[in-house]
Amino acid sequence: MTTPVDATTTEAWEDLRTLKDALVPDLRAWFTADPSRAEKFTFDLADLHIDLSKNLIDTDVVDALLRLADQVQLPARREAMFSGERINVTEDRSVLHTALRLPADAELVVDGRNVVADVHEVLDKMFAFADRVRSGEWKGVSGKRIETVVNIGIGGSDLGPVMVYEALLPYKQQGLTCRFISNIDPADCAETLADLDPSTTLFIVASKTFTTLETLTNARMARDWLLRALAADGEIADTDEARRGAIAKHFVAVSTALDKVAEFGIDPVNAFGFWNWVGGRYSVDSAVGLSVAIAIGPDGFRDFLGGFHAVDEHFRTTPAERNVPLLMGLLNVWYVNFFDAHSHAVLPYAQYLHRFPAYLQQLTMESNGKSVRADGTPVTSQTGEIFWGEPGTNGQHAFYQLIHQGTRLIPADFIAVANPAHPTKDGDADVHGLFLANFFAQTAALAFGKTADEVRAEGTPEAIVPARVFKGNRPTTSIMAAELTPSVVGQLIALYEHITFVQGIVWGIDSFDQWGVELGKKLALEIAPAVFGDAEALSRQDPSTRSLVSWYLETRA
Ligand code: F6P
Repeated sequence: MTTPVDATTTEAWEDLRTLKDALVPDLRAWFTADPSRAEKFTFDLADLHIDLSKNLIDTDVVDALLRLADQVQLPARREAMFSGERINVTEDRSVLHTALRLPADAELVVDGRNVVADVHEVLDKMFAFADRVRSGEWKGVSGKRIETVVNIGIGGSDLGPVMVYEALLPYKQQGLTCRFISNIDPADCAETLADLDPSTTLFIVASKTFTTLETLTNARMARDWLLRALAADGEIADTDEARRGAIAKHFVAVSTALDKVAEFGIDPVNAFGFWNWVGGRYSVDSAVGLSVAIAIGPDGFRDFLGGFHAVDEHFRTTPAERNVPLLMGLLNVWYVNFFDAHSHAVLPYAQYLHRFPAYLQQLTMESNGKSVRADGTPVTSQTGEIFWGEPGTNGQHAFYQLIHQGTRLIPADFIAVANPAHPTKDGDADVHGLFLANFFAQTAALAFGKTADEVRAEGTPEAIVPARVFKGNRPTTSIMAAELTPSVVGQLIALYEHITFVQGIVWGIDSFDQWGVELGKKLALEIAPAVFGDAEALSRQDPSTRSLVSWYLETRA
């Protein structure tokens, strides 16, 4: 494998250190000194309008960040990803989520196969199936059309579909609803199924590996629920054949392991494949998005994929100084490595994007939470940030206090759309306008703050002036779109995928493996016998775990 360049040994890193040492952040002064600052740092990327001007940067910083990208050979690494090189070195895999959104007439040959043809074969199968469900041609075992689609999956096999489904609710077909089961906490399955009619419910079992404990357990519980409920309603006979027939009508699967799908009892005809060169957290644009394709239809899903592709093309071909994912990834490096930022807020001023921060948590933190570089040597700088957030304005009334006046620097991305799905008035006031006034106000307040003199001028008693001062210079990026279309949602996802990639390359890590989730999974299997009362297994546990499990065993009714 190519040994990653150690970013901290580059000239650009040294330049950035010098620039940081000399930097006295003063966004008020910077905007006054340069009337074109907003324009200079605002970019259009497909349908996204992105303002970076309220970040703690000047042209010298941006130039040094771009030199850093060159010095860590980012252009070559990017090309390696797009062309299918095995850049996921610890799993020896290509990383080709970008191939999932290539148009049908494109060609990308990997290991002797044109993967674009494979991708479109599966898309065609998904779309044909989605059409059958949407039209009512696909019927449950009792001859009724499907009204509820339940996606059973976890991590990338859940967070992407649920986030996109919620984001695109205005585009879903009337009379069709999706639900999602992910957690192995039986409450999730029980509550999700509680009021469903089995005869109108279709389950999608989504699992890249088809070995994930949570998903297979939930799938088995759902299968039992379905068969029991159909039998109780007299919809199926008490025979294996009848049960197999019901499963065929009510269960489909999405996986790279089609042999395991068959073992579970799902007809391979009703299985939708993808490939090990698609990471779980990069998979919503593969067959993993089947629930979304059913909800919004093939045309909507094509539009969604088109949004990703537009951003892919931008990232691959746009010159560095206007390349938005590149600039945003480098900005994150600037804050993490030179300002010691520990977290990054993502604040959608769009209720439909309420699961976007949760989705980004897996994308960014499973990708970049690493302590060794791709060649196994220790990292040479901090990596990864904690991504978090809630939709505005709810966050304003909860945690914004800390962003405005706390001691930590928290870069924040604000996301909003100009045109709401529900144009509504409160008296004469356009409610969306009021909403967006908050969006604009927050980034201005964070950037420009309020001085002690301004606080005093409002007649504030001297004793509480310090508490009412806002220092400002809290960095934000504003991302806007005309409306939240399927394409825009695809664009937003691809933007953050590539931001994550850029950071991973600077840090020299493999952003596409996830070994950090393995140990806990393995230990859970080892501890399970103790939880079920095996005294010998209990005795093998460490004292704290032993004591906790013992307490559980005594307390469990
Ligand atoms: O445990 C982490 C993980 O492997 C994620 O990367 C993945 O998205 C999730 O589990 C689910 O995996 P699968 O789709 O194979 O069930």
